[in-house]
Amino acid sequence: MCGIVGYIGQKKASPILINGLLKLEYRGYDSAGLSTLEDTTISNIKNKGRVNSLNEVPEINTLTGTIGIAHTRWATHGKPSTTNSHPHMDNSKTFSVVHNGIIENYNDLKIFLTENGYNFLSQTDTEVIPNLIHYYFSKDNVDDDKKFLRAVQSACKDFKGSYAIEVISSLYPDRIIVTRKDSPLVIGKGENENHISSDIPAILSYTKDFYLLEDNEYVEIYRDHLDFYNKDLAKINKPIKNIEWDATAAEKDGYEDYMLKEIYEQPKSIRETIGSRIKLDAPCCFDELNFTKDYLSSLNKICIVACGTAMHAGLATKTLIEQICNIPVEVEVASEFRYRNPIINEKTLAIYISQSGETADTIAALKLAKSKGCKTLAISNVIGSSITREADYTIYTHAGPEIAVASTKAYTAQVTLLAILGIYMAEVLGSVSPLILENLKKEIFDLPNKIQTVLNDVSGIKNFAKKVYNEKDMFFIGRGTDYAVSLEGSLKLKEISYIHSEGYASGELKHGPIALIEDNTTVVSVITNDDLVEKSISNVQEVATRGAKTFVITNQDIDKSRFDYVIEIPAISKLISPALSVIPLQLFSYYIAKEKGLDVDKPRNLAKSVTVE
Ligand code: G6P
Repeated sequence: MCGIVGYIGQKKASPILINGLLKLEYRGYDSAGLSTLEDTTISNIKNKGRVNSLNEVPEINTLTGTIGIAHTRWATHGKPSTTNSHPHMDNSKTFSVVHNGIIENYNDLKIFLTENGYNFLSQTDTEVIPNLIHYYFSKDNVDDDKKFLRAVQSACKDFKGSYAIEVISSLYPDRIIVTRKDSPLVIGKGENENHISSDIPAILSYTKDFYLLEDNEYVEIYRDHLDFYNKDLAKINKPIKNIEWDATAAEKDGYEDYMLKEIYEQPKSIRETIGSRIKLDAPCCFDELNFTKDYLSSLNKICIVACGTAMHAGLATKTLIEQICNIPVEVEVASEFRYRNPIINEKTLAIYISQSGETADTIAALKLAKSKGCKTLAISNVIGSSITREADYTIYTHAGPEIAVASTKAYTAQVTLLAILGIYMAEVLGSVSPLILENLKKEIFDLPNKIQTVLNDVSGIKNFAKKVYNEKDMFFIGRGTDYAVSLEGSLKLKEISYIHSEGYASGELKHGPIALIEDNTTVVSVITNDDLVEKSISNVQEVATRGAKTFVITNQDIDKSRFDYVIEIPAISKLISPALSVIPLQLFSYYIAKEKGLDVDKPRNLAKSVTVE
């Protein structure tokens, strides 16, 4: 995980670097640091704690350098501490490095370097990087302008694992060298200045022109130009990509937190995700895909693979795809899929969902499916992200930048896009009557308005959250697609309010977990699947009889007096209801976390982009 930024230009670097880090805090926030070049010496300032803790270090105000690199950390190797914070320097203080990723063979490299006289101050894997660069630099007898670059490349050749790194050197005060492998890094081009970042939104206020690096490419970044190189250090041309995102889309825009803003953005993000893909009088439009009837008919199954909330989006749409396409759908967490030798082949379509497009397990699971001959389709929210570059096909959600660590608008956009994809495939296959598909399309068109209806009055959800925010345990139950959304509701609660919760299939509760129900245990039930209403109600009654406090989210005509608290949502097909019924669940977790006074955008121990396995 971790976030990195860099700046080279005419302005004082440190405030620009801190500003960038603040926008990347979602990637990790246990310590932070920066290096700037002050004439020909490197100043290195680090501190344990959030990015703003850098402003507490007195020397920060003495910096005037216009070149710098910076890092916000999510500890993997070595506990959060000032010593373990990045940037790390080599023993001679000639090179300073920030790193996102993991150098898996760092221990071997550390032994090698120690044998060659190097000392290590931290417990991190990263500290081998500047020292190995120094090692190769000192062994290179050709004293030309590319010596620094060659040393970085030689060091990188020895690394196993993943890295996005920025390096500065006191001997080369006119440039920053960057490279990446399996970790994100983008370069923003400005007027006589350049910016570097782990993601686009962090530097979107400076430029909309970006270079997206491929694995094993190297860049020498100067104030007024950039030199790109391939893995063998042959010069290459790199096209500029213009990113249309509005910088203010990544700001809080008057909301108290990003999470609340992103929850309220969902009508808009769903409209943008629908875009022009759906037409009532014509087939759904996926120009990126060339799925033929023959290809889709040949499929033995579809595997949907992802992590966290993205995986829940797969679970939420499994039933829709199976029912209208008549193809079996398996949904699995990427960290399991990649190591269990799944039975997949060229007759399997493998779909990978990742908001960030950088999740290490999801990318590895995609590579596995490719190696087994599957066609791979990525669903991502980030243009040019790693997963989109690995997959055979990519379709984008258009949720806009999602900053809060706990995912909300990305989930509903993913559910929407998967539903449209399902309809598209059913149209190509001719597997179900056009009328059924037309009705589903209408439902998707109406989804933003229905979400808006729920958002217009959140008082009921807020009130219930106020009653239960001090509890230690909760359950989320449902049947069918209501079960899928219950899992997401439970995850949201854990993530941001630190209350233990279980998402369970209502019918499964009596096979064990019901033993945990005692007086006043809160059980949140989602009841939108019209064919399962009576059975779902019976399950709620079973827990109520054992003392549970029942909070029901429903769009069915049920006797509300049988429950402690009921939130009504608009009617919707059960096949896409998770995109609607999740809204009260998101708000429920949000208001509980606020009651507890927690930082909803940056929950403890979590990071938004999980680039380690
Ligand atoms: C982390 C985030 C979650 C996210 C998951 C998958 O755990 O905290 O919000 O759902 O990663 O991320 P992705 O970017 O692959 O969708």
